[in-house]
Amino acid sequence: MRKTVIAGNWKMHMTCASAVEYMTKFLPLAKEFPSDRDVVIAPPFTAISTLSSLLKETDVFISSQNVHWEDQGAFTAEISPQMLLEHEVRYAIVGHSEPRKYFSESDEQINLRARSAQSNGLIPIVCVGESIEQRERGEAERVIRRQVEQGLEQLDANNLVIAYEPIWAIGTGRTCESKEANRICGLIREWVGTSDLVIQYGGSVKPSNIDEIMSMSDIDGVLVGGASLDPISFGRIANFNIEN
Ligand code: 13P
Repeated sequence: MRKTVIAGNWKMHMTCASAVEYMTKFLPLAKEFPSDRDVVIAPPFTAISTLSSLLKETDVFISSQNVHWEDQGAFTAEISPQMLLEHEVRYAIVGHSEPRKYFSESDEQINLRARSAQSNGLIPIVCVGESIEQRERGEAERVIRRQVEQGLEQLDANNLVIAYEPIWAIGTGRTCESKEANRICGLIREWVGTSDLVIQYGGSVKPSNIDEIMSMSDIDGVLVGGASLDPISFGRIANFNIEN
């Protein structure tokens, strides 16, 4: 049985004060979430400690937005698995298209991050996805396959999440058609060869499209950016209902 993982990636948004304010609205909603899903928030590093205390007695998990492969050392601006584990962080996002684009993160570095997360007991959320130019050139499948194969090298595919996030759907309001997202997620499952692999879709997920996305056979969850910044919207997303 594949786990459902609904994650909100706050990116570079929210101070500690706004995270606390958010939780006053979100936690009452979280009490009603069905127990068949993991609901996860990925705050900026500065809000992790505050959220860790606030979420202690709840079923909401914390993810980091990055993790380094060394335990400690001269790696300015990086964060180690131990630093995250101290705050009971459960998941770690790696390979998001933003660090891939702005900081030229390579598949090799992403793989090192994911391996470090996994070997320290964090669950990596490995992001993959093509640009609009790659899709228009007919290269989407080849690009995603390379990212999946290199990103997952030496990893236990039973203990990670892959997030398929087509770059052209991120923050644009232009959601990938759910059947097409499902087709790509099905291909990823085939390439990895693990039927229990958990695969999320990400890119302009919102309350109005969550039920349709989650009704797809190969989509096990979502990675949400913009709509996760509003507690009511993210509450609705986490409370998706595919029977409607
Ligand atoms: P949006 O939901 O804002 O499109 O962002 C998706 C994303 O990048 C999640 O990691």
